[in-house]
Amino acid sequence: MKRTVKDLVGLKGKVVLVRVDFNVPVDDNGRILDYTRVNEAKPTIKYLSEQGAKVVLLSHLGRPEGFDIRKSLWPIALYLMKSFPNKVYFSNHVIGPEAEGRVKAMNDGDILLLENVRFYEEEEKCDMSFARKIAKLGDIFVNDAFGVSHRKHASIYALARLLPNAIGLLMEKEITHLTQCLESPNRPFVAIIGGAKVKDKIKMLKKLLDVADTVLLGGAMAYTFLVASGTAVASSLTSVESIMTAKEVLDYAKSKNKKLLLPVDHVAVRMSDKKEKKEIVDFMIDDMVGYDIGPKTVKLYSEEIAMAGQILWNGPLGKYEDERFKEGTFKIAKAIAESKAFSIVGGGDSVSAVKNSGLAGKINFLSTGGGATLKFIEEGSLNCVEVIQEKIK
Ligand code: 3PG
Repeated sequence: MKRTVKDLVGLKGKVVLVRVDFNVPVDDNGRILDYTRVNEAKPTIKYLSEQGAKVVLLSHLGRPEGFDIRKSLWPIALYLMKSFPNKVYFSNHVIGPEAEGRVKAMNDGDILLLENVRFYEEEEKCDMSFARKIAKLGDIFVNDAFGVSHRKHASIYALARLLPNAIGLLMEKEITHLTQCLESPNRPFVAIIGGAKVKDKIKMLKKLLDVADTVLLGGAMAYTFLVASGTAVASSLTSVESIMTAKEVLDYAKSKNKKLLLPVDHVAVRMSDKKEKKEIVDFMIDDMVGYDIGPKTVKLYSEEIAMAGQILWNGPLGKYEDERFKEGTFKIAKAIAESKAFSIVGGGDSVSAVKNSGLAGKINFLSTGGGATLKFIEEGSLNCVEVIQEKIK
């Protein structure tokens, strides 16, 4: 078990560098659309501040190439000020005189948010000399950024190697729930995997089939698997390079006697139809493009979900961001909310589907991880967590 912030003693007056994942959804004007990740990081920030530590927060936002005002963390500093009045400060730089001066000026319990670490090209290169400059600011490093712990970057991986360290309370919660789900799930364990990032997700499906009893597929992932199983999907989005892997996964499921279910009907549109009239079909032909699972699939999947003891859901079942094709994803969210199973939902779109349908309160655990969750399933751990010290027994 990794050392957590609660295991750290003598925090009063110490500068604690906390890597958080404030990579929140932002619109084209830089307006923040959802603060979940910030809210989830608050317990660790609050705990450290109450212990009298000087809390210095590091995060990325988006994938900027150099400075980009729309990717500044300043609006998040303003948001944090509401929860921690008179305690929150902001530095326009992560390293150098401004950052150093602001840390020096901190009182015990203060919180300083540094600007987006990805404004520095050294961050993603995991540059050790950049990490050393950040490390100079603090005494202790805390990783509370589960969502980005699969990235070997300077502010999360290298920093942990330079300072005494621990994980934060959000990280502890994420790891505990995922480990329980993968190591001792309530049976039957039903996993629902959708979304468009087929290449990224397909790699962990074999691992998932080792532990899950049933895997339900949706989205572009499902179209790739339908092609692999010999079913035509007309012009639907597929990942051609993943078809062979999909075949292997189908064979693997069969050899392990596991259920791997694919959609049996679809909500499709013909590319040649200017009005884009929706059609519900069992098979896609001509120039049809599938955008959602159909009602028979919703029923089939909902029956599996109703019988589940444990549920893990990652990725929407169709083109959920388009009003016309969100029904499948919403109905699956409802089925999960109504089930008696212990449910874990992860990934930006699945979590927002659950929230937008007002069902968040009925889900046992909403994870802040997307890609990190998939990597955790695939490898059983994450690079940036492995590098943290173990608890002293
Ligand atoms: C995420 O949103 O999945 C994490 O913050 C990681 O972001 P990244 O995929 O841009 O590295």
